[in-house]
Amino acid sequence: MKKVEEYYAPWVKGIPMYISDHIEKAWRDPKLHRMMSNENPLPPSDKVLDAMVKYSKMANRYPDQGLVVRSKIAEMNGLDGPQNVMIGNGSSEVYDNIFRMFITPGDEVIQHTPCFGIYGLRGKLLGAKMVSVPMIYKNHKMEYDPDAILKAVTDKTKIIVVANPNNPTGNFMDAQHFVTIAETGIPFVVDEAYVEYAGLKMSQVALTKKYENVIITRTLSKAYGLAGMRFGYAMAAKPVIDQISGSLLPWNVGTVPMWAALAAFEDQEGLKERVKFNNEAVDFITESLSVIPGFYVMNSKANYILFDCGETGKTGKEALAYAETKGIILRGESKKYDSDGWFRVTIGTKEENELFVNTMLEFFGVKK
Ligand SMILES: Cc1ncc(COP(=O)(O)O)c(C=O)c1O
Repeated sequence: MKKVEEYYAPWVKGIPMYISDHIEKAWRDPKLHRMMSNENPLPPSDKVLDAMVKYSKMANRYPDQGLVVRSKIAEMNGLDGPQNVMIGNGSSEVYDNIFRMFITPGDEVIQHTPCFGIYGLRGKLLGAKMVSVPMIYKNHKMEYDPDAILKAVTDKTKIIVVANPNNPTGNFMDAQHFVTIAETGIPFVVDEAYVEYAGLKMSQVALTKKYENVIITRTLSKAYGLAGMRFGYAMAAKPVIDQISGSLLPWNVGTVPMWAALAAFEDQEGLKERVKFNNEAVDFITESLSVIPGFYVMNSKANYILFDCGETGKTGKEALAYAETKGIILRGESKKYDSDGWFRVTIGTKEENELFVNTMLEFFGVKK
C-alpha cells in the first residue's frame, strides 16, 4: 500500500498553513501596538457599522452575486457595469481566483521584489515558478525596473504582477511603463491595494478598456479600514471577468461584507477622513525621523513606511527588538542591497505614531 504522502500533488507537498505570527501575537495581547500589518488604526464609520448590523439580521439567508456593489464599483471607476467587476473575500482571495485560471504547473509568474508575499504563496500552490525581479535601490531610493521585468519574460510567463504603490516601498511606477508591459499581451495584474491614499487618479484602471490582458485588483482592507471584514475586487474586460469568475467558490463574499462594502463606498467622507489622517501621519513620521544621520526613509504614498538604517551601524532587527520593549510590533525585512538595516512601520493612532518616533529617536541616540 502506498503512503498517503505519495498521493499529494507533488508541488503542494509540505506547504504549511499560512499563519501570520505577529497578528496572532497582537490578538493575544491587545495592549500591543499593531504597527506591522498595514491595517488602518481607525475603526469602521457609523455608516458602515449600520449596514453591518442591518445585514447581520439577514444572516440566515445566502448572499446573491453582489450586482449592487459590483455596479457601484464599476460606476466609481468609469467602467461599463458589474460585468467588469469580480468580488472576493479580500484581495488575497482574488489573487487565488485569478491565478487558478491561468497557471498550470511549471508556468512562470513575474513579481517585482520586495513585494507582498501572497502572490508567491498562491502561485506555488498551483505549481508556478515565481520569477522575482528586484527593484533598483539607488541614492537611497527604491525604483521600479520595468526593463528588467520585460527582460524576465519567457515563453512560460503566464502572469506579471506589479503593485502600485508597492508594498513595502510605498512608491508608484511611472504611468508609461504600465502601457509598455500591457503591450506584451501577457496577463498583467496591477495590485492597487493602497491606491486610495493617493487617490483614484493614480489608478491604471482605464487600461482595462484598451487591453484585455490588464486586470486591476483592490481591497477594502487598507484606506477603507475593513481588513477584518474581508472584501476585495478585480476589474477587467468582461470576457476576462467572466473567465476568472468561473473559479469563484459559491457565496464567497458574505451578505454582511457585501453590503458593508457598499456602505463604505458610499461614505466617501469617511474615506477622506481616513486618508487625511494617514497622509499627515506619514509626513509626521517621515520628517521626524529624517534627522537621524545615516537613516533613510523611503518616500511613501501608502499607510506604511520602509526604512534602511544600515549606515547607522545598527540593524533593522535591533530596531525591531528595541521597539518591542515599548510594546510596538514592527515588520522586519530581509537583508538586501548589502544592507541589513531594513524595516517597515505601519501608521498607527496619533499616540502610537508619537511613541514610535520617540522610540526610534531614543534608539538611534538623537535628541528631540
Ligand atoms: C500589496 C498588497 N496587496 C494585497 C493585500 C491583501 O489585502 P487583502 O487580502 O486584505 O485584501 C495586501 C495586504 O497587506 C498588500 O499589501
